[in-house]
Amino acid sequence: MSVRPLIDQVSSEPIVDQIARDLERQGYSIQPNAITGTLAESLWGEVSQLSDDWFHQAGIGRARDYQLNRFNRTDSVCWIDGTTEPCQHWLQYTEMLRVSLNQRCFLGLFSYESHYARYLPGQYYKRHLDAFQGEANRVVSTVLYLNPGWQPDDGGELVIYESATDSVGIRVTPAFGTLVCFMSEAFPHEVLRAKRTRYSIAGWYRLNQSSTDRVDPPR
Ligand code: OGA
Ligand code: MN
Repeated sequence: MSVRPLIDQVSSEPIVDQIARDLERQGYSIQPNAITGTLAESLWGEVSQLSDDWFHQAGIGRARDYQLNRFNRTDSVCWIDGTTEPCQHWLQYTEMLRVSLNQRCFLGLFSYESHYARYLPGQYYKRHLDAFQGEANRVVSTVLYLNPGWQPDDGGELVIYESATDSVGIRVTPAFGTLVCFMSEAFPHEVLRAKRTRYSIAGWYRLNQSSTDRVDPPR
């Protein structure tokens, strides 16, 4: 099936440049309204209509994630495999971003994996790192927020800590279209409880860690 290009390469260039500069300078980038219009609307349309059957409790299904996350998080996730049109467009966008970041920052990003996440009121994800340290398996984390009309007192902020000892952090409102990128091994972060259902797409760019006897990533 052919996919109509929804991503205007030219109009996304300034944002990609900004993300690359931010990653080089400070290791993270917060871009409000990075992804709006048809792409964000269609992703929100899809995730907000998914029935409970599509979501599974985060941390279950992948052995290492399970160990890491079992007590840390209460959200539910649905892995993105590109079988629906909105997800195909999302994967086109993230592929464009991968190539662009490699060109600008020489990161050698090889593959991308992502899932929808749904946090029901009161659900959370405690402070954690996205990368298994020393393995460099996840290099850059991304989070896109799909919450139209999010109000300051709806809660659910992402808090990004600048180091292991930082306890103040930077708070990010999960507003519709905001895209956050950060170096996976360097920034502990957490998701605070929200008063409303909160949707996001969390994703990770990985290095190529394949060898002759091991194909990576495993999915
Ligand atoms: C994650 C994560 C942040 C968010 O899924 O690893 O940190 O704001 N998500 O949804
Ligand atoms: Mn995370």
